[in-house]
Formats: sequence, structure tokens, C-alpha cells
Amino acid sequence: MSVKEIFDTMTYGPAPESSVEAMAWLHANAPFGHWIGGKFTAPGTTFASHNPATSETLAQITQGTTTDIDTAVTAAGRAQPKWAKLPGHKRAQYLYALARLVQKHSRLFATLETLDSGKPIREARDIDIPLVARHFYYHAGLAQLLDAEQPDMAPVGVCGAIIPWNFPLLMLAWKVAPALAAGNTIVLKPAEQTPLTALLFAQISREAGLPPGVLNIVTGDGATGAALVAHPDATKIAFTGSTDVGRKIRTATAGTGKALTLELGGKSPYIVFDDADIDSAVEGLVDAIWFNGGQVCCAGSRLLVQEGIAERFHTKLRARMNGLRVGDPMDKCIDMGAINSPEQLARITAMVDASGGEKYQTACPTGCYYPPTLITGLGSADALMQDEIFGPVLVSMTFRTPAEAVDLANNTRYGLAASIWSENINVALDIAPQIKAGVVWINGANMLDAAAPFGGVRESGFGREGGWDGLLAYLRPKAASKPLRSTLAVPAPTSPEVSGLDRTAKLYIGGKQARPDSGYATAIWSPNGKLLGHVGTGSRKDIRNAVEAAHAAKSWGKSSAHLRAQILYYIAENLSARADEFAARIKDMTGKSGVAEVEASIARLFTYAAWADKFDGAVKSVPLRSVALAMNEPCGVIGAICADEAPLLGLISLMAPTIAMGNTCVLVPSGAYPLAATDLYQVLDTSDLPGGVVNIVTGAHADLAKPLAAHMDVDAVWCFGAAELSGVVETAAAGNLKRTWVNDGRATDWALAEGREFLRAATQVKTIWVPYGA
Ligand code: NAI
Repeated sequence: MSVKEIFDTMTYGPAPESSVEAMAWLHANAPFGHWIGGKFTAPGTTFASHNPATSETLAQITQGTTTDIDTAVTAAGRAQPKWAKLPGHKRAQYLYALARLVQKHSRLFATLETLDSGKPIREARDIDIPLVARHFYYHAGLAQLLDAEQPDMAPVGVCGAIIPWNFPLLMLAWKVAPALAAGNTIVLKPAEQTPLTALLFAQISREAGLPPGVLNIVTGDGATGAALVAHPDATKIAFTGSTDVGRKIRTATAGTGKALTLELGGKSPYIVFDDADIDSAVEGLVDAIWFNGGQVCCAGSRLLVQEGIAERFHTKLRARMNGLRVGDPMDKCIDMGAINSPEQLARITAMVDASGGEKYQTACPTGCYYPPTLITGLGSADALMQDEIFGPVLVSMTFRTPAEAVDLANNTRYGLAASIWSENINVALDIAPQIKAGVVWINGANMLDAAAPFGGVRESGFGREGGWDGLLAYLRPKAASKPLRSTLAVPAPTSPEVSGLDRTAKLYIGGKQARPDSGYATAIWSPNGKLLGHVGTGSRKDIRNAVEAAHAAKSWGKSSAHLRAQILYYIAENLSARADEFAARIKDMTGKSGVAEVEASIARLFTYAAWADKFDGAVKSVPLRSVALAMNEPCGVIGAICADEAPLLGLISLMAPTIAMGNTCVLVPSGAYPLAATDLYQVLDTSDLPGGVVNIVTGAHADLAKPLAAHMDVDAVWCFGAAELSGVVETAAAGNLKRTWVNDGRATDWALAEGREFLRAATQVKTIWVPYGA
């Protein structure tokens, strides 16, 4: 073949990686049991792990039972206190040893990963395994610094981790490194399709001298995963996988007090403006959608290209697709390997076959392979524009203006990642904050690093992995706490004392007082039998109206932090002017002096006015020619059930951080003592707070918690009502997978309930990658 022909056809000779060592390791060790308490158990009932490229059986793997899970969680529970008591430096040494061993065995890891998953050896070797090592190094550093940097935090205990098949060892690293760095022990269940590198990792953990029980690996399918989720002693669940299973796990853990992070699917937009460097943007797409055959949660699977360049762009893209080499994943010159399993291939094939549009596909071998595919001509509501395909299939649409690009990009129930291509940094940095996603790459795609938080919003899940933010998901505040009980309202006395005019407080929606839809009101009595007034009995309909008003006020999030601070100070000032009246009201309702509570409320407003422009983001030190900005963005609309027992301070403690960070909110005040909240309407009205930023719906917590938590337009829900409401809220929140922060007793002492924990709950980190280089 002539040199010209080689350039034209991109045809190279085969350059296969050897599988001899990996196969020898399998032969020496299979069939596999679980890794529990520092050794392999005897194999039980087994299933096969296959090489998807050849359909050859690689090894027999044990299907984990409920008993296996129990044995593993018990081993982890026994090891945890001692592991947590080690000085951070000692844990850092273990993590460092793991990093070194991953590097030492990197070739074996890479080949085994490719054999088991079908991903190209080039990716396993150059991306997956180096990122695994980097993750352990980075977390060795976090373990080293933890005691000094987070003195008030403690490990959560035993973590249950469930991971998918697309990045088998990397996802293990994302769970194991932070869990261990934070002083937890772990039970990890790899995906049934790809358990082998996890088992190799287990074995090398012995070389690292990891104490028995700190790391446990139980293999099996979804039933094994469900048993781990259900185990009462697994106090934190970290899951990466499909949105459907994430929703099941949210529901299964509701009300159990377990900590939960979910990293789920995506349909990430890849936006190309007409001033983009088109060749770079085309090349970026190769990394965005054909990396790992598109079996990537943050794959840039939805191309949005500006109309004027669409034709040119698609032509160049098709030409580039023709050059992609699909085939034997062990071949070092291959761009795209096998699809991970015949089931996944069938799923991709069925989805594409059922779709309309014009399909462009390049050649690919027979077997468990799917060709690089481009589909144009779909409408934004078409299934393939909305549903995650998880394969090498790109769907494409055009847009005219930046505003339309943002609308189309956000027209999805997911919110994991996005790419923005433009040579105009002003445009890119203007668009990035408007995209609803946890990660945004400017002029790039699929850049990942241990220091840069990664995770989604909306139905892409919640929680971040990487950086200090990721580590915090494996920690809890040290302060001991008790679950809250509901405070019963003062019952109507047998001989009531009714004097003066009847005063019925309405609801507060969109900056106006509104009658409750139910038409009912609830009488509020003082402990000594005096009728203090009535409050509206809010219902599902009122919650709906309040959420609508909160949405309409969302430009609050774009106002400057300085302005938000000014308004919080102003609210404090106006409350201070009426301090005696509020203190008397609290005394009337509770029978106890309200002076200290009003003072604390004013101070709390000052606290969050101070924080409004000081809860800073960060620039992460990533090892690429790039800055990764971790921005604290508002969640959107936060619904909050306020504490019963602190009528004013309980409400202010939730409202102030919420609005300081740029959210709007729907608050359900104390059920027992609601009149401090209704008196606050006038204070809010006179403090320049735009209508709709704060909405207050009075009524029974038990009636309002569920509609508030279930509302699809509420982005996060907090519940500081009675502990038994936690399960109701977390179950209802599973619908749109909104973030929850429920009463597990953390804030029982309202005098102390302020600070970073509240600010973190009121924000979500968006990581914006900005590469540089002339
Ligand atoms: P999956 O979500 O069913 O599996 C992921 C992990 O969860 C595996 O370890 C599995 O054994 C476990 N699991 C399954 N059911 C469970 C349950 N009820 N409780 C606890 N653990 C359970 O993903 P699957 O079926 O392999 O892939 C289906 C689709 O999910 C893909 O086509 C893709 O769209 C999406 N997916 C997304 C991933 C991501 O990274 N976001 C990863 C894998 C799949």
C-alpha cells in the first residue's frame, strides 16, 4: 500500500495488545468468590463474565446473596472504628500505596478492563487507569489534610457502593478513594457485566497492606445491589448507573437516615456556535460521543449547531466519522471497540430502529459492535432527542440565536454535562451559567479530574464526586443529634377567651396575601386559653400557586450577591424595629419568652447577609492546560418545612441561606406556632424583597410535606419538621430526583444552626472547564 493510500484510508496494520498475562491471572484465580474481610470467599452459585468482543467466557463470578452482603457489611462494620481512628496520615499512606500499585500493575489492569468491557485498549491504558491512579493520589492528599481541614466532621460509617459497567475500575476508584480517605469502610458491588478489575484491585489491596474489612467486594446483579441498599448498617449509599435504578434506590432509602449520592444518566448538549473553530469542534465530538462507544453518562450526545454553519459542520463530521476505526478493542489503533454487552447492543439497536430522522452510519464489524451514527432531522420532542441511548449515536439539531441554544440545551429532564464551542470567550462564559448541568466544558469534552467536582442536577442525580465537595459526601457533622418530634399545637380550651376583632392571616404568595384555596382557617390558641388569631389552612393547590410564584421570581438568582445582602440586612433592620412585638407574639404562642429568639433571628439574617457575597467558588488545580472553576450556583426553587418548635428562628434559619444564595423558596412555617411567620409578611413587604422570592403557606406539615416534595418544579426540598416526615419527603422527591435535606436531627439546636452546611445545601457546584493555550 502506498503512503498516499494509507493517508486516504487510515488503514494501519493490526497492533494488538497481548492478553496472555490477563488470561494467566484469570486462570490462576477464577472461579471467583467475593472479597470479604481481606480474603476471597469460596465461590458460590456462579455466572459468567464475558468478553463482549469475542463472546468468550472470561471467568465464573459468584452471585452475591443477602447473606454474603450481610457478611461483608458486618466485616466492614467491625473494621470501621479502627480505620476511622487512624491518623489521617496513616490512611493517606494506604491510599498512596494503592495509587502506586495501580500504576505498577497498570498494564494488567488495562488489558483486563478491555477484555471484560470491550473498551479500546488505548482508552483503558491512557485514560481509565491513569485517572484511577490520580484519584488515589489525590485522595491520599485529602486523607492527609482531613483532620486539620475538617475538624468538625466524622465519617458516615459503612458505605455501600454500586457501580456500572462503563468505567468499571474508574468508578470503583471514585467510590473507594473518598470513602476510605474519610475514614469509612466500604462494601462495593461492581456491575455484573464487568467485575474483573474490581477483583484484581481487591487482590492488590492486600499488597498495599489494607487492613481486612476496610474494602469488601461482593459481586452479583441488581438483586445483590438491592440487598446492599437495604442493609440497615450500610449508612451511606453511593450509586452510579441508570436513572431508573437511581429512583428505586432513592425510594428504598427514603426515611432510613442513610446518606445518598446518585450519579445518573444524561443527554448532554454539545453546542457549537458559528464562530467556533469548526475542525476542533468536530474533533471534540469524537471525544464527546465516540469515547467508550458513547457509553458514557456525560457523553455529548445531543449536537446543537448554529444554523449558518450546520451544513458545513455536518459534512466535516461525516468525513471524520468515515475515518473512525471500529473493531477489536485490544488493537491499539482502534477508535471504538465493542459494545459492552449483547443486551446493551440490542437496546441501542432497538432505540435507533424505532426512530425517524435521517441516519448516517459508517461501517463496523459484525458481532457486538454498533457503528458510529449521526441522526439529523428530529424534533426536540422526539424520543431520541430526550432519551439516553448510551451508545455511539449522536442526534443533531440546529439553532439560530444564543437564547435558543440555551432553551434547546435545557429542554431535557437531565442535567449532567454540556459542551460549548465558541472562539468568543464572552459568549461561552455567558452561556455556561445558563445551562442546567453540573459540568460544563468550554471548547472541550469529557475532561475529568479527581480535583474537579463531577455530578448532575435534575434527573442526572445529586451529589458531587471529586475535590473536597466529593469528600464531604462521605462525612457528617460530629455534633451528636436527636431526631425532632412534632410540637403539638395548643388545643382549643374548654372555656376560650375571645376578645377583639377576629384576625385571620392569609398565605403569602408572590408578594401578596392570598386566601387559602380550601377556604378554611385554623384557630391558634395561647397556652392560657386566649384566641390569638387564625391562619389559613394551606393545601396542595396553594403549594402549586406558591411554586409557580417562586418560579416567576427566579431572576432573583441573577441579582448581585451585594443586592441580596442589602435586602437581608434590610429585613433584619425592619425585624429589629418590631422586635418587641415579635417577642410578645412568641410568648403568647409558646408561653416562653421570645426575646432571645428574635435577637437570634436578627443575628442570623446578618450572618447570611454577610455570607451572600462570600460563599466563594474555587479554581481547581487540574493537571490539564485548563482552569476548572467550581461555581456555587443556587439550586433554583427550594421548598422547606420549617421547625415547629422555633416559630421565628426556625423559619429565618432556612429562609436566609436560601435567598442569600439566590434561590427562591416556598416555606411551610411551624405548624404549632405559625403566627410569627404570618407577622413576617409585612416585614418582607417593607424590605424591598421582590414578590415571589419568599412564599409562605401555613397549614399542617403532614398535609403539605408531600405535595411540596413531589412537585416537579421544586428543585430541592428541606424538611425540619417531625422526623417521621423524612420518609414522606424523600419518597415523594424520587419523582424528579430532587435533592433532599431532611431532619435527621442535625439542627435541633436552632441557636447554633447556621453556617456552611446550610450554604452547601442551598447551592450546587457547577464545574466549568476553560482550557487555554495559544
Ligand atoms: P443499571 O442502572 O441497571 O446498573 C448499574 C448498577 O446497578 C449495576 O451494578 C447493577 O447491578 C445495579 N443494580 C441494578 N438494579 C439495582 C437495584 N434495584 N438496586 C441496586 N442496584 C441495582 O444499568 P444497566 O441496566 O446496566 O444499563 C441500562 C441503561 O442505564 C443504559 O442503557 C444506560 O442508559 C444507563 N446507564 C447509565 C450509566 C451512567 O453512568 N449514568 C451507567 C450504566 C447504565
